[in-house]
Amino acid sequence: MYSEKVMDHFQNPRNVGEIENAAGVGTVGNAKCGDIMRIYLDIDENQIIRDVKFKTFGCGAAVATSSMATEMVKGKSIQEAMQITNKAVAEALDGLPPVKMHCSLLAEEAIHAALWDYAEKNHITIEGLKKPKSDIHEGEEDESEEY
Ligand code: FES
Repeated sequence: MYSEKVMDHFQNPRNVGEIENAAGVGTVGNAKCGDIMRIYLDIDENQIIRDVKFKTFGCGAAVATSSMATEMVKGKSIQEAMQITNKAVAEALDGLPPVKMHCSLLAEEAIHAALWDYAEKNHITIEGLKKPKSDIHEGEEDESEEY
């Protein structure tokens, strides 16, 4: 039911850990399953994401998508990172079972939360970035069919 890429990123997740004095840190949880994701971003003076790490208390799909998402944002500009959606991450993993698509949202939301933290610390605005929710299911009950 899982692609080889998902299994690979689950068994050998990339970029696990934390960054001391990170430029931005974001934590989001999913109250329905109780899983939690934290992303650390190291961002240089040109707003390039130099390094990224993640820690999770999450399911296998959350581990695999976070691993892939961190690989995809590393070395990118903030604006490029903003374009990376959970769907793009799932596609890069050759797909996820539909019931597991919501897990990939944890990574996307945690990256956005970390960017929000960075923007607040530096008093800047990142185009298209909205204030993150601490629980990705807040206010999304009506859309749950999509996952
Ligand atoms: Fe909670 Fe996958 S079941 S993130």
